[in-house]
Amino acid sequence: MNLFATKPLSRILAESEAGEHQLKRTLGPLNLIALGIGAIIGAGLFALTPTAAHDHAGPAVVYSFIVAALGCCFAGMCYSEFATMIPIAGSAYTYAYATMGELMAWIIGWDLVLEYAVGAATVSVSWSKYLVRLLGTFNIVIPPQFTHSPFETVDGVTGIVNLPAIFVICVISLILIRGISESATVNGLIVILKVTIVAIVIGIGFSHVMPVNHTPFIPENTGTFGEFGYSGIMRAAGVIFFAYIGFDAVSTAAQEAKNPKRDMPIGIIGSLVVCTVLYVLFAYVLTGIVNYKEMNATAIYEALHRIGYDSMATGVVIGILGGYTSVILVMLLGQSRVFYSMSRDGLLPKMFCEVHPKFQTPWRSNLLFMVFVSCFSGFVPLSSLGDMTSIGTLLAFVLVCIGIMVMRKTNPNLPRPYRTPFVPVVPILGIVVCFAMMASLDKMTWIRLVVWLAIGMVIYFGYSAKNSRLVTHPEKK
Ligand code: ALA
Repeated sequence: MNLFATKPLSRILAESEAGEHQLKRTLGPLNLIALGIGAIIGAGLFALTPTAAHDHAGPAVVYSFIVAALGCCFAGMCYSEFATMIPIAGSAYTYAYATMGELMAWIIGWDLVLEYAVGAATVSVSWSKYLVRLLGTFNIVIPPQFTHSPFETVDGVTGIVNLPAIFVICVISLILIRGISESATVNGLIVILKVTIVAIVIGIGFSHVMPVNHTPFIPENTGTFGEFGYSGIMRAAGVIFFAYIGFDAVSTAAQEAKNPKRDMPIGIIGSLVVCTVLYVLFAYVLTGIVNYKEMNATAIYEALHRIGYDSMATGVVIGILGGYTSVILVMLLGQSRVFYSMSRDGLLPKMFCEVHPKFQTPWRSNLLFMVFVSCFSGFVPLSSLGDMTSIGTLLAFVLVCIGIMVMRKTNPNLPRPYRTPFVPVVPILGIVVCFAMMASLDKMTWIRLVVWLAIGMVIYFGYSAKNSRLVTHPEKK
């Protein structure tokens, strides 16, 4: 067992081109930007922004979006360099395997489950909230026991299971098993709808912003870390960081891109820029219409209702439901691809890299995560899921930034179609900003992260280290 064995890049690239486990190359630059936006705009914007404003930052959540965008931008440049150098499935996991050794690769791959699978669960829970809101406008009521987790009590009723959240996870998993090409087309249509909705809300909301709601713009700290003031802005940045998650999912589709070298940076940075502009404007408008003290997880509905756009509010809720669907789709897609790569490397059982003979998708991974994610969707509340996703993803970003610096030292002459500018300044800034956001999240979230990583260690030393292809097929090294 060699915990620091790296997988030579030549072998990584060769294995992706050869072998029986092939994915189809069907995605162009626009598909990739759409894939990015499809994963990015979702519950972070529509559900966590109002709660972050309410609990942590007030209108200054606008600044939180800028802090989080900075972290993403630095990390995004590092992702782009890796994604073009190693244009195959697996994202940060594969990059770490080439640079920092097998143990670190395992840690990242395991950590990415928090980003993709728990992230999908987070969005599904918010999906369920908006569905209940929509059905309510038609006087259809699902008993609240079946739309909340057992940890939530609403109007005196404690939840049992969140059935709509489980429903949406199952439907999307089945679509993914059916095939990537069809999924990308559906995703493209939903992205257009989603961006249009955000733009319309910003457009009509702008003239209804009330200065009184923005005064003071940075509410005074209550005396507790993370409750308003500057520490509140940082904690809110850690929370709404969730809203940016997804641009890196573009890199998990590198093996399905037609021209990954050119299109990966376009997909990653392009989708990030579009979303940052929309988010800052959206947060400004939302906190200007509804006072942060009165916000809840479906505040966008309240905002439109308040300015007299009732019928539009219903349309927007329908659009949000569609938008969430595409986020869940991309996250579950990314998750199955990471598992596919880990299984191909022998770190997970072989069955997860078996491609379906007809649909050419890693269907067993899809099925596994359908069950796993459903358990989270049905039984854990929104904010716990969102914070777990954020901390897991931030850790992956920190490790990717470190990986870029390691790779520049260990493989200085490798062709790099896209070079991260100002190395090591940009990766170091990425590490600092992302770690600052992690540090501002609460203790419980940290404990969950540590427990999750500990479970990962048990699996690694119990199974993966012995079954790694670097051990079982050393001759190719
Ligand atoms: N960024 C995605 C969202 O906000 C995960 O839902």
